[in-house]
Amino acid sequence: MSPSAAATRPLDPPKDLPDSTAGIYHYDQVDRQFLRERVEQFRRQVDRRLSGELTEDEFKPLRLMNGLYLQLHAYMLRIAVPYGVLTSRQLSQLAHIARVYDKGFGHFTTRQNLQLNWIKLVDVPAILDLLAAVDLHAIQTSGNCIRNVTSDQFAGVADDEVVDPRHYAEVLRQWSTLHPEFTFLPRKFKIAITGSATDRAAVCIHDVGLLVKRDADGRVGFEVYVGGGLGRTPFIGKKLRDFLPEDELIAYLEAVLRVYNAYGRRDNIYKARIKILVHELGIDTFRQEVEAEYARMSPETYRLDAAIIDGIRARFASQPYEALPPVSGALGRARLEDHTFNRWVRTNVAAHRQPGYAIATITLKPAGGIPGDASADQMDAIATLADRYSFGELRVTHEQNLVLAHVRQDDLHALWKELSKIGFGEANSGLITDIIACPGLDYCALANARSIPLAQRISERFADLDRQHDIGELKIKISGCINACGHHHVGHIGILGVDKKGVEAYQLTLGGTAATEGAIGDILGPAMSADEALDAIEGVVGVYLERRQDGERFLDTLTRIGHTPFKDKVYAAH
Ligand code: HEM
Ligand code: SF4
Repeated sequence: MSPSAAATRPLDPPKDLPDSTAGIYHYDQVDRQFLRERVEQFRRQVDRRLSGELTEDEFKPLRLMNGLYLQLHAYMLRIAVPYGVLTSRQLSQLAHIARVYDKGFGHFTTRQNLQLNWIKLVDVPAILDLLAAVDLHAIQTSGNCIRNVTSDQFAGVADDEVVDPRHYAEVLRQWSTLHPEFTFLPRKFKIAITGSATDRAAVCIHDVGLLVKRDADGRVGFEVYVGGGLGRTPFIGKKLRDFLPEDELIAYLEAVLRVYNAYGRRDNIYKARIKILVHELGIDTFRQEVEAEYARMSPETYRLDAAIIDGIRARFASQPYEALPPVSGALGRARLEDHTFNRWVRTNVAAHRQPGYAIATITLKPAGGIPGDASADQMDAIATLADRYSFGELRVTHEQNLVLAHVRQDDLHALWKELSKIGFGEANSGLITDIIACPGLDYCALANARSIPLAQRISERFADLDRQHDIGELKIKISGCINACGHHHVGHIGILGVDKKGVEAYQLTLGGTAATEGAIGDILGPAMSADEALDAIEGVVGVYLERRQDGERFLDTLTRIGHTPFKDKVYAAH
């Protein structure tokens, strides 16, 4: 028996839930066969590494094809959650894997995936087997390929949605999976897609951002953005096409990727992303290159037939909604009687397009908690709640939270009570403690400073919900180094971990946003210690509260009064 096969431990099977869930794209036998073969292939590669036949250098490109990183203390496995949609059964399986093979925790990421930070190499094939059993995998979550496509966590249910982006996200998933021409790009390539006026998918900071929309005649098409990204050189994406007709989606993206593949810089890793190419060529020249490539391609070969989209749409069975009155009396009464619940509804519940239903965001950000972390028991409990209240379906958000997308308004109070029991009933979605943080120096080999403990301290400092609700929408995002995994450039308050003569320090930026148009924050001043950073945030919030006018959110006040008052406050003592 091979070492990795011997490592397979006897397991309790995940709880017996129905195999199909409405609203989820269902794999067919070809998809499943492919996953099984892929696991077997990797099992043999792991065995060769364990026996010493492969060196770490030889093994590295193979493991990166399967989402396996080597971090400060252990291997880290990043599991793909296609456009952030999970079934309850998949979530229980993830809980099961976290319990048996990790330290009993999973970490939801800003690209709607799940990371396990304490994985043993010998266990990886068994884990991949368990993932494949529920149609999950870790392919294309690392390496210089097209990564997991991300989307709006409210896709298909938001009341402001024009077109459901999931069907196109699935088209893109199928097209990009193991695409032979785009497996060794100059650098990784991230695509996000939304179909709503409100951009909840951070489209503007992706290599390609797509906004699905309709023209005056009702035809579907895409507004295409290119060259957005964070990292050491942040850029907001630039518009490439105002209306790309639906059937040209794949052909046009092929042209974009071919231009990138041909001209993207392979000589310098810091200049390899498409954002640098777009910046160096200028958007007009880049567009000409794409259009020239496009003109050379055979449109018929790449046409995205309506029949293909119809076929995909049909495999997203729709939820068996009940006919309900648009407004629930029970919800109204519960809100009046229970102040804490009412607060949760205000921040964590969004309007649903189906009368009588609502969308509930479960913030994985309890006071003092680690942003985006959930224990195996919490994941199991949420899976059960998804079965009970949301047709067994869940969404992962790029803000490291979870969503139950189809909750009857009548059930919201009961759901919130259950969430509160597992520590996730906090009414803080979009507030100052709904922080995004990368793994930082606690796990990451590239970090300058710790992100997680600072996030925890900020969350404790601002734990008082009255105060949080008074402050209103304010997004803090923390990265432990300039790679910007924690999106600090687009935080209303961004925090970047830097190395100040061998000591961990933090630099603040103000005014970033990933919403709709997007903006990169401006640096406030010199870096400071964690203690000083906490006081600085307090100072920034204080200036906002003092200076805000009627109904102004933090960003509005900042735009009106500029950075100087904030800077003066923070650096006054220096
Ligand atoms: C702990 C292991 C990790 C390592 C070694 C790592 C490494 C990197 C590196 C090197 C980049 C810059 C790439 C570039 O600009 O070309 C990057 C970007 C990024 N990473 Fe990570 N990362 C890790 C974990 C995470 C986690 C946990 C998240 C989600 C919370 C994440 C989300 C991102 C995002 C969103 C970017 C975006 C920047 C962009 O697209 O321009 N990463 N990461
Ligand atoms: S931002 Fe830096 S420290 Fe944080 S996870 Fe990314 S590479 Fe690591």
